[in-house]
Amino acid sequence: MFSLNKHYIIIIVCACLSYQVISARGASVSVGVNQEDDDFLNGTFPEGFMWGYATAAYQIEGAWNEDGKGESIWDHFTHRLISPIIDGSTGDIACDSYHKYAEDVELLKALGANFYRFSISWSRILPNGTNDVVNQPGIDYYNRLIDLLLENNITPMVTMYHWDLPQALQANYGGWPNESLVEHYENYARILFENFGDRVKYWITFNEPFNTCELGYGLSIAAPGILGEAIQPYLCAHTILKSHAKAYRLYESEFKPTQNGQVGITIDTEWMEPRNSSNPDHEEAAERARRFKHGWFAFPVFFGDYPPVMREMVDAASAAEGRNQSRLPTFDDNWKTLLNGSLDFLGLNHYTTELVAPGGLCLFPGWSCDQHVTKTKDPNWEGSASAWLKKVPWGLRKLINWIKDTYGNPKVLITENGWSDAGNSGLNDTQRIGYYTDYINNVMKAVILDGCNVQAYTAWSLMDNFEWANGFTDRFGVHWVNFTDPDRPRIPKASTVALKKIFDDNGFPEEK
Ligand SMILES: *[C@@H]1O[C@H](CO)[C@@H](O)[C@H](O)[C@H]1NC(C)=O
Ligand SMILES: *[C@@H]1O[C@H](CO)[C@@H](O)[C@H](O)[C@H]1NC(C)=O
Ligand SMILES: *[C@@H]1O[C@H](CO)[C@@H](O)[C@H](O)[C@H]1NC(C)=O
Ligand SMILES: *[C@@H]1O[C@H](CO)[C@@H](O)[C@H](O)[C@H]1NC(C)=O
Ligand SMILES: *[C@@H]1O[C@H](CO)[C@@H](O)[C@H](O)[C@H]1NC(C)=O
Ligand SMILES: *[C@@H]1O[C@H](CO)[C@@H](O)[C@H](O)[C@H]1NC(C)=O
Ligand SMILES: *[C@@H]1O[C@H](CO)[C@@H](O)[C@H](O)[C@H]1NC(C)=O
Ligand SMILES: *[C@@H]1O[C@H](CO)[C@@H](O)[C@H](O)[C@H]1NC(C)=O
Repeated sequence: MFSLNKHYIIIIVCACLSYQVISARGASVSVGVNQEDDDFLNGTFPEGFMWGYATAAYQIEGAWNEDGKGESIWDHFTHRLISPIIDGSTGDIACDSYHKYAEDVELLKALGANFYRFSISWSRILPNGTNDVVNQPGIDYYNRLIDLLLENNITPMVTMYHWDLPQALQANYGGWPNESLVEHYENYARILFENFGDRVKYWITFNEPFNTCELGYGLSIAAPGILGEAIQPYLCAHTILKSHAKAYRLYESEFKPTQNGQVGITIDTEWMEPRNSSNPDHEEAAERARRFKHGWFAFPVFFGDYPPVMREMVDAASAAEGRNQSRLPTFDDNWKTLLNGSLDFLGLNHYTTELVAPGGLCLFPGWSCDQHVTKTKDPNWEGSASAWLKKVPWGLRKLINWIKDTYGNPKVLITENGWSDAGNSGLNDTQRIGYYTDYINNVMKAVILDGCNVQAYTAWSLMDNFEWANGFTDRFGVHWVNFTDPDRPRIPKASTVALKKIFDDNGFPEEK
């Protein structure tokens, strides 16, 4: 997940102005629609449903320059002279999982997790991003982790890219907007499949490419911190989609026949609810927002090309700006074929809901403006420690149903869902328990009442960790971590008990 760093609100105030103008006006019309959850459902998930926890390398590993690891864009970003991180912190040590991974596996076991979704740090394997130098100690680290998971009957699920590009690829190529990265990503993917594919059967090529591109290369609030919303995010997304397709096809042709694993991509989105659900213009705006956010990445991997509404609107905006070329690049037929159907499962990260209405004042061109929508929150929604994260459990059920209807009921793995509290909130995290209970209950409704093909649920996160631009201020863990103690002890919160019960029960059975 990602939240806007308060330091940067001032810089992007122009981008937000359009939202705020409308938001002040819109708040009064946003309520009154009956969006209440229906009753709690007792029942269980189908047999074989998978339960797990997720983390990401930069957020937990630490050891940023140990044993031959190269610098990543997040190392570089957090080490800037003027810190872009709200509390000035870095992931240099984070949860120290590079040294404490065995304890993490113990925690997962105690929680009754069937699988663990973690990410591999590209620059720990290839210090300079390219495959001319392979760092064996990096390979050894992930071998130890994978083997220990398997010894404990916990299935490894690997995210191949969770935002930490090797800095050398940023410095030498300008990062993801440069198409040269497709080849480097494919080489990296091959090294992962070759070294770990005998034991790893779930591969996620990219985590939340929206955030990599829009926040990293557009709004500059994530690494590498580049401001250039008009074109850079669209080029970044284009390279990432091609890289995904190449890795998928590589696995399909050279590894799948013997390794029998699955490859997917994790796309994040809020549920986009029309602000006024009886106004067709609001419903149309909400659908546009869904396609600009989720469809930007999902349409190409399911159908081979960007959503038609993006093509029309970005082309039109580009022409109106006097450009001779659309800001949204095009795929030729060869790329369309490689992309079309390039996933064995869809990874879904979801946290919250937006209310969407048409319009918005556009001050500079880019993804936010291109879709002509305004997003607001209902002030009645329960809030977390993160300004962007409000509890709207029915939004997840609606989103899963929309995915079923839009993409033909694909296999979905929920790869992240979770709740933040603040540093001093203690161990009795009743709000988090309420969030998980109600969100998981809505997933169950989508599966057993609506026939949606969701096969796994992943809680974010195993423990408090480095929350990107928000540093250590927003805590998403079911374990509390003391970041001032050099030993980084992990202390269970009350939610560990509640989630273990849901996992063990496979849902919410009637009490006998
Ligand atoms: C990686 O790049 C750095 C800086 O460009 C360079 O000093 C170093 O020699 C490179 N390392 C390898 C192993 O090629
Ligand atoms: C991509 O990187 C190569 C190698 O550094 C460079 O020659 C080229 O100009 C870059 N392309 C763009 C679009 O930045
Ligand atoms: C919602 O939209 C309908 C249809 O356009 C309209 O009649 C109604 O007044 C709107 N409700 C609010 C609260 O704006
Ligand atoms: C994608 O594949 C489907 C069937 O497999 C085909 O009908 C469709 O035309 C393809 N789309 C593109 C853009 O190639
Ligand atoms: C389009 O405009 C850019 C500069 O804005 C120029 O470099 C490029 O050559 C133009 N392309 C065509 C096809 O006219
Ligand atoms: C946790 O908080 C809830 C609600 O505030 C309270 O009812 C409960 O007794 C607390 N549990 C513990 C162990 O303190
Ligand atoms: C966190 O660790 C520091 C250093 O060991 C210690 O002084 C402090 O009491 C710990 N905080 C808590 C809440 O345990
Ligand atoms: C339904 O599930 C909840 C949550 O596990 C449980 O507390 C409740 O007792 C169950 N209801 C019935 C009727 O068994």
